[in-house]
Amino acid sequence: MAEITEQTQHTRTASYLAEKGEVHRVLLLYSGGLDTSVMLKWIQDEYDAEVVALTVNLGQPGEDYGVVEGKARDLGAVDTFVVDAREEFAREYVLPSIKANGLYGGGYPLFTALGRPLIAKLAVEHARRVGCDTIAHGCTGKGNDQVRIEATVATLAPELKVIAPVRGWQMGREEEMAYARRNGIHVKGPSEGTPPYSIDDNLWGRSSEGRWIEELDHAPDDDVFQLVTPPERAPDETQIVEVTFERGVPVALDGERLGLVALLERAAEMGCRHGVGIVDHIEDRIVGLKVRDIYEVPAATIVLLAHRELEKLVCTIHQNQFKADLDRQWAYLVYAGLWWEPLRGDLDAYMERVNEQVTGTIGIKLYKGSARVVTRQSPNAVYDEALASFTASGGLFSQQASPGFIELWSLQSRMAWRLRNDPPT
Ligand code: ARG
Repeated sequence: MAEITEQTQHTRTASYLAEKGEVHRVLLLYSGGLDTSVMLKWIQDEYDAEVVALTVNLGQPGEDYGVVEGKARDLGAVDTFVVDAREEFAREYVLPSIKANGLYGGGYPLFTALGRPLIAKLAVEHARRVGCDTIAHGCTGKGNDQVRIEATVATLAPELKVIAPVRGWQMGREEEMAYARRNGIHVKGPSEGTPPYSIDDNLWGRSSEGRWIEELDHAPDDDVFQLVTPPERAPDETQIVEVTFERGVPVALDGERLGLVALLERAAEMGCRHGVGIVDHIEDRIVGLKVRDIYEVPAATIVLLAHRELEKLVCTIHQNQFKADLDRQWAYLVYAGLWWEPLRGDLDAYMERVNEQVTGTIGIKLYKGSARVVTRQSPNAVYDEALASFTASGGLFSQQASPGFIELWSLQSRMAWRLRNDPPT
């Protein structure tokens, strides 16, 4: 018996992948889109298995979850769940990222990378609760999302198996649409005003991939921007938004205290109105490929800018030099699907400690696509207005001490310069 198990283990690409005979009751991560709708039907036919559909609300703008749930039931789901995980997402995933100034590759605020481990964790919880043996997701074999979801399931629930039909079914887009039509699955098309980009979104941002976005010399067509107003059509009036933080947590906009979800939604609205948060990004995926993404990240642009600025003000030069390196490590780990890696917790402990000082208010001017810091205020600022002035001396700063400092500070550089340019004979 042990031998057989070992053999099967070695014939699979990965230990957590399900073989046909093992799939009886599947928890499907269901978005209501084409791929996961086709999957809902396909899994029932192909595996002769029951499907339970789970849809997770992470604040995707304009989604009607009642419709999604109804669609799952129509397609034969034996049970359906919609989980409103916005609060948990904001508190446990987006907030740590804010404290780590989470940005990958200089432009991507990680919204999808932050969402996937939570979605997969909820899938595990529901699968266990309703007795599923397998989790199914709709990721392709070319992206980062498969890594994030499967690494989460394999980490949190070694007893559960995974299937990823899109990776294996070898249907092209046309075949898939034909399959959908044959099975009465409604296919959204351009005729309904839905541009067929590949979209992923939540309250922290939205990505578009595919079509002309893959042509690197193609400047963005306006129809890709479903969230942010193109800057040239944004209002002629500027707006200053004040973001207040307490210990690294954004707590108020323009002096009005808001819960985190509401605050992020409000920041997104302001950014959208002023054309703020459009990012045209070339990205190094974890699976090797370079890909172009168009991001609309209005809330992240405003909140991360304000946080970074405030943190810079309350930290010393040494902390600022050091933290930027750790921030980059944090973002890379999360981007790369290793949310549950202990190093992330180690880094979070450091982020928490630094953020104890991040209290204050940053004013940001929004205008036709730009967001610029214009005011700063903090009780913890390592800043003394009197010392900052060019002429003043006294207190903690002595101008007389400067030349001595310069002599010692430049000592090794001067010695090395001499050795190279004026060598002893
Ligand atoms: N490139 C981003 C990432 O890897 C966004 C991915 C969006 N996912 C999607 N299935 N459309 O996180």
